[in-house]
Amino acid sequence: MHTYTPQTFNLPELEGLSEKQIKAHIGLYEGYVKHINVLREQIVGLETLDKEKYAYAIMETRRRLGFEFNGMRMHEYYFTQLEGGASPLDTSSALAGALTEKYGSVDDFITHFKSVGMSRGIGWSVLYADPAHNTVHTAWVSDHELGQLGGLPVILAMDMWEHAFMVDYLPAEKKSYVEAFLKNVNWNVVAERF
Ligand SMILES: [Fe+2]
Repeated sequence: MHTYTPQTFNLPELEGLSEKQIKAHIGLYEGYVKHINVLREQIVGLETLDKEKYAYAIMETRRRLGFEFNGMRMHEYYFTQLEGGASPLDTSSALAGALTEKYGSVDDFITHFKSVGMSRGIGWSVLYADPAHNTVHTAWVSDHELGQLGGLPVILAMDMWEHAFMVDYLPAEKKSYVEAFLKNVNWNVVAERF
């Protein structure tokens, strides 16, 4: 069986996000990588033991696959966006064009993306590309998996779980975390994904 191993991220010093915060968050990411392996081992283990007897346990374990897998993958999008240091979006890039076409301007997109990020609950504000229709979509994803848009590439992923900011910010300061996160995005990485 294929085993996943955690990625390492080459992160610079970030503005408004402490090293302690990032270190704790990467630790959680590594937990998702561990658990995607554990979950798959458990399904196979239960199936080998007695497929019929453990049918419910197998089904319920399988139901968690999207949570653990996306928990791993979404964090990989999250941390790689911060690699290389903050860099603005090239206004002549294809992504800037797509954002302007859909949202009026890049600034209007940012305002929209932030407001989606401020949705109540834990999850992600996600910008996707829809290559078949040459456009983009912003969606709220609850947990790590509920509301993901099938098959669309993730372009920008903002973690809105409290674990992403509670070392540095209080729950009521979620807005400040959003500002800090966006301040540190390397938009070259984001534009390249698009
Ligand atoms: Fe997270």
